[in-house]
Amino acid sequence: MASRPSARPRLADIVRSKAFRRAAKIFIRILTIILAVCIVLQVILAYAIAKDPRIFPAALQRSKNLLIVTAHPDDETLFFAPSILSVLDNPVTTGGLLVLSNGNNYGLGDVRKVELKGACEVLGVAEDRCEALNRPELQDNPRQWWNETAIISSVKEYVEKWKIDAIITFDEGGISGHINHRAVSGAVKKYGSTDSNAPVTYLLSSVTLLRKYSFLFDLPLTSLSFTWRIVGALISPASATEQDFGDRALIANTWPYYLRTREAFRSHHSQYSWDRSLYLVLARQVWFNDLVRVERQH
Ligand SMILES: *[C@@H]1O[C@H](CO)[C@@H](O)[C@H](O)[C@H]1NC(C)=O
Repeated sequence: MASRPSARPRLADIVRSKAFRRAAKIFIRILTIILAVCIVLQVILAYAIAKDPRIFPAALQRSKNLLIVTAHPDDETLFFAPSILSVLDNPVTTGGLLVLSNGNNYGLGDVRKVELKGACEVLGVAEDRCEALNRPELQDNPRQWWNETAIISSVKEYVEKWKIDAIITFDEGGISGHINHRAVSGAVKKYGSTDSNAPVTYLLSSVTLLRKYSFLFDLPLTSLSFTWRIVGALISPASATEQDFGDRALIANTWPYYLRTREAFRSHHSQYSWDRSLYLVLARQVWFNDLVRVERQH
């Protein structure tokens, strides 16, 4: 007589079992609660305490001429949009973007330069301050460490030309780990920490891959180290003249800014691929930026 030989339960039986359904229900309930916490946190940061210097440093809020330094056209949108949109929300602030290469790795440099202008317009950066360089030492290349002297001299040139008083760029992880991003970070950090005439400089924090693509779920974790600042901002709001909290920033996109971020990316036609649609939802950088100030060496 043939009987079913195995005692292994079938998947369908497991799924139909009472215990499984109960576990699934609990899991979904917990996930919903966590998601709600994330959304509430984003709303608090983006709306309720967005202008508190504990999370949005006075130096950035009162900047007259901001400079974002990146490596390739589209970095500004993919990584720095929350910072750009929030800082340029102040009508007295003029935004500037210095992209150190035109992203010519696949011969698309000229196309990408035009695309960049469109993204700048959406992000509120004027056309005459939306610059992509094409220096021989600084060419889009995932295998070549860029010359530090060339980076610093380029940045310095635009700091003087545009009377820059605040810089935002990559940290040593370069967000995506791209070698050009990391070289930019190294050079600008050196400039910001050693040159007494350098503007105040902030670096965008890199995180592990899992955290990077965890949508808003990473926000509570990122906010942990800001707990007392957030609580303080909710209890007793401070004004933007307060200088004590300028060492770090946690800047969240409002809903309209998130939509602007997506709109800015639409300008980068040549960079579109299916995974970019996922990126524009899942990457934490399109929702919020956490920045760390470069400390000056004495
Ligand atoms: C970087 O460029 C400068 C001049 O632009 C040059 O003197 C220096 O040797 C270069 N450094 C490296 C490591 O190639």
